[in-house]
Amino acid sequence: MKDQISRIEKEAREDLSRIDSVDAVEAFRIAYLGKKGRLNDLFKQLGTIPPEEKKAVGAELNRVKLWLESSIEDFRQKAPKTGASKETFDETLPGIRPPQGSVHLLQQTIREISGIFNRMGFETVEGPEIETEFHNFTALNIPLDHPSRDAFDTFYTTHGQLLRSQTSTVQIRVMKERKPPLKIIAPGRVYRPDTVDASHSFMFHQIEGLMVDDRVTFSDLKGVLHLFLRELFGSATKIRFRPHFFPFTEPSVEIDIQWGKGWLEILGAGSVDPNVFKEVGYDASVVRGFAFGLGVERIAMLRHGINDIRHFYENDLRFLRQF
Ligand code: DAH
Repeated sequence: MKDQISRIEKEAREDLSRIDSVDAVEAFRIAYLGKKGRLNDLFKQLGTIPPEEKKAVGAELNRVKLWLESSIEDFRQKAPKTGASKETFDETLPGIRPPQGSVHLLQQTIREISGIFNRMGFETVEGPEIETEFHNFTALNIPLDHPSRDAFDTFYTTHGQLLRSQTSTVQIRVMKERKPPLKIIAPGRVYRPDTVDASHSFMFHQIEGLMVDDRVTFSDLKGVLHLFLRELFGSATKIRFRPHFFPFTEPSVEIDIQWGKGWLEILGAGSVDPNVFKEVGYDASVVRGFAFGLGVERIAMLRHGINDIRHFYENDLRFLRQF
């Protein structure tokens, strides 16, 4: 049996020296190490030899097996470099285009809206999605018994914090950090425990805006937002201000745009309530400001005729590729 092993080793060495392609190395591997290969034949015979020889023959077989394996591996590593591979490169074949991604429609909408405000001098800022009750409610003049503070309307964490339910929180953060004048917009995610359906989601996007100076008036609010809506929806866009109530603005309005035969609500806005200025340490007898907030999904749905908010989040490429 020892003779057989050394014969195989010798022949293998000769065969190896003749190998010139990746295919040939595979044929070689099958011939020697395959299930019906020559080495396996010998392994099978191991059972038939006297026990006192078994150990030595077994060791010898294993040595040859390891040598074959490492020779094959060496050859495979070297093959492409030595040109032993039969693969050729045909430079006349058309190339393979890598799949191209694109910006998500919501992000496109945020960029477009931010771009309009940026050109009017508003700086884009961001705030955290995990917030305190102070930033989300108290500093925004929202009383303790207001329904929006209820656990049915806000996600609370186990550590006395919450997932912000509006981007108005960023107004507070920026005013506490900086002195007026201020012109900022704050896009980002907000969260509300709503049951998901075609027009509701537990998470959606808003863009908040805030301008503070010592002589900002309601006319500035009207001018800025009118210009914004005409940029976004076209220069013929008609807008309508409707009295409304928000705790953090006084007076407050909802702004509609004309849509077909009717009107559609697009924005909430108003003059910053003096109580908000007091909370952030501004002198409410001197500073003036306006604020506004809008929902990004709603605007994208209107402009593109999308009838279900869930399309934005399902990652269905058939939907996303349209934009
Ligand atoms: N935070 C309001 C909401 O989530 C939107 C809003 C309305 C923001 C009026 C404002 C504002 O800054 O002045 O419904």
